[in-house]
Amino acid sequence: MPVAGIDVGSLTAEVVLLERGEVMHYVIMPTGANSKTAAEKAIDTALEAVDLKRSALEFVVATGYGRISIDFADKRITEITCHGRGAFFLNPAVRTVIDIGGQDSKVIRLSEKGKVLDFAMNDKCAAGTGRFLEVMAQALEVELAGLADLSRQAKSTVSISSMCTVFAESEVVSLIARGLPREDIARGLHQSIADRTAGMVHRIGLEEALMITGGVAKNAAVVEALNEKLKTDIIVPEEPQIAGALGAALLAEEELRQ
Ligand SMILES: Nc1ncnc2c1ncn2[C@@H]1O[C@H](COP(=O)(O)OP(=O)(O)OP(=O)(O)O)[C@@H](O)[C@H]1O
Ligand SMILES: [Mg+2]
Repeated sequence: MPVAGIDVGSLTAEVVLLERGEVMHYVIMPTGANSKTAAEKAIDTALEAVDLKRSALEFVVATGYGRISIDFADKRITEITCHGRGAFFLNPAVRTVIDIGGQDSKVIRLSEKGKVLDFAMNDKCAAGTGRFLEVMAQALEVELAGLADLSRQAKSTVSISSMCTVFAESEVVSLIARGLPREDIARGLHQSIADRTAGMVHRIGLEEALMITGGVAKNAAVVEALNEKLKTDIIVPEEPQIAGALGAALLAEEELRQ
């Protein structure tokens, strides 16, 4: 029988439906203001696509910051465990996972069996997360998906000195007003995310292979800046945003085997 993993994050909710280790279907939807409603909508949308009802699911594991409010879940498991599990399934060579989501970022160290050995997390402020990039894209008047391309046109880097999203936003606004090239500012913003993330990687020790998950993995400029800083070649999965939900679904299958 199929199982489901659901990851309700600050910005997006993902569902992965799994049957005997194979992904049947997945969805990515905005969380919006209510994580309980978002979770219900996401699971029902996923099930509808494969013509199943909730009663067909044998086990549901929930993760993400909104996991507490998911009452149809059989078990709740932390994001660290789920992201680690998902990344290791996608590539068993992975020993270090970087997850950058909407409101937090984390680095997870895995054993050769895929167990979590250590982790570092920044959930205190938006700097270094997807939310930071969204605010900055707005200040630069560019679509979020176009931010990476903008920074690739840079001829030099304008470094951003503010450590906080709110201050960095006013810094960016005044840099634009002073006539500095928007592309150079964009590169500086990506560098600042990479600096913060690399700091966390060094705190727990860099061990290859590295994989990046979460929505920010879709920003090629962040990945390039990290590769340069860490002198590595980070693996970007085909759909980096579903790693947590995939891990949750794999752990749901494991529960049934116990
Ligand atoms: N196509 C894209 N191009 C660039 N960036 C993207 C793209 N899609 C998503 N993102 C980034 O991903 C972020 C959201 O990531 P994700 O969906 O992993 O967050 P989340 O899991 O809801 O948050 P958290 O785990 O912090 O609670 C957005 O803030 C945005 O910066
Ligand atoms: Mg997340």
